Amino acid sequence: MKLWTGRFHKELDKKTNDFNSSIPFDSRMAREDIEGSIAHATMLGACGVIAQSEADCICAELEKILADIESGALPIDMEAEDIHTFVEGELTARVGDAGKRLHTARSRNDQVALDDRLYLRGQCGMLYEQLHELIEVLCHKALEYAGAVMPGYTHLQRAQPITFGHHLMAYAEMFQRDLARLTDAVKRMNSCPLGSGALAGTTYPLDRSMTAKLLGFDDYTHNSLDGVSDRDFCMEIASAIAIAMVHLSRFSEEIILWCSWEFKFIELDDAFSTGSSIMPQKKNPDIAELVRGKTGRVIGDLTTLLAMMKSLPLAYNKDMQEDKEAIFDAVDTLHMCLTAFVPMVDTMKVLPENMRRAAAKGFINATDCADYLVGKGLPFRDAYKATGAIVAHCIENDLTLETLPLEVYREFHELFGEDVYQAISLDVCVNGRKVAGGPAPENVKREAERVLGLMQAAKWPYAEEREQR
Ligand code: ARG
Repeated sequence: MKLWTGRFHKELDKKTNDFNSSIPFDSRMAREDIEGSIAHATMLGACGVIAQSEADCICAELEKILADIESGALPIDMEAEDIHTFVEGELTARVGDAGKRLHTARSRNDQVALDDRLYLRGQCGMLYEQLHELIEVLCHKALEYAGAVMPGYTHLQRAQPITFGHHLMAYAEMFQRDLARLTDAVKRMNSCPLGSGALAGTTYPLDRSMTAKLLGFDDYTHNSLDGVSDRDFCMEIASAIAIAMVHLSRFSEEIILWCSWEFKFIELDDAFSTGSSIMPQKKNPDIAELVRGKTGRVIGDLTTLLAMMKSLPLAYNKDMQEDKEAIFDAVDTLHMCLTAFVPMVDTMKVLPENMRRAAAKGFINATDCADYLVGKGLPFRDAYKATGAIVAHCIENDLTLETLPLEVYREFHELFGEDVYQAISLDVCVNGRKVAGGPAPENVKREAERVLGLMQAAKWPYAEEREQR
């Protein structure tokens, strides 16, 4: 049954009804829709807009409807136009006139703006917990491999020595910012639009602060047009999610490389790898590849939202119904990716010997060799030039800096002495990089402990509302 049949003489065309309907995707907000209605009815009763007895009756029946939906006793009617229509229709069918009073001083425009916010607040809390867990897993792994020397890369060329722990902590930094972005977006979203009405507020004497408080909002929205017509919170959350996905995707790309025989820095657990139907030797990093692949669709979700909003006049337009599939897909995708990714990283086998072997070739201590000459008093530019010539010589003669005889070193510069071998040893190079933020094992341990401490103190600020609801 439509909520808007009064001025129409015909039913909506059947196929057009399906086109217009949002219930296939907004039915997942049933709980939030009902909670919003309970708060609205409670406030209407308290303000005397409807009788207290009617408010009580509405709230009690809405609780039952929610329980029935969640138990499966009440299947959602996919012919309904949207979840708001379905819930109101069911309520009216059950309690009659009181149900018809629920929509007093409310429009589906402020109702959907509310449901979106409530639903996304809960979903962001779930993503927060998953990212939080990922960061902790990375810190524990970093502590374990704080001293595992590996080549650091630029341009995917071996560049300078780092540690595996340091590499992992780089991602821990990125995911911390993702957590902060998500939390921040929800903070800005956390104002209640109810009371905005269709666009122009209402003449009823509502207590908007009361509704906002009942639903765990920090405030109510301060302009009725804005309250119903912006979806910047969807764009912002999708953006935070897309950035987190890009981080996961870069990490996935590295995991894929590290698993290859060319690198063999890690081996994924059997429970998080797949085989080939034809090549018996294969063990494929499908999970990481899927995460990398799914990043594309989340970038698409963000683009969908931005493009959907860009030319809309104020206030509500039906285009905005399209917000849901895009933002839900972004949330679902990050959720699914993290569900597989976190245990995959947690269980991967690290092969530090192979990392060290890769670090021992490729002249990743060439900068340290130049720094050695600087330590002997040479200006860095001259030291750089001399070392460059030495590297070229080594490449031509199939030597490394470690195996080049001292006499040859001295042909390039007389400042070279026996102590050069010590200065360019991998462990010395890595242990010496203890500048704040550097890869020295002692730094990595300190940083991992620091971040673990932060994670212990960090808490999703909206957890209580979520538990209450
Ligand atoms: N299903 C709609 C949406 O998701 C609800 C709001 C409908 N409002 C309206 N004026 N048609 O946006």
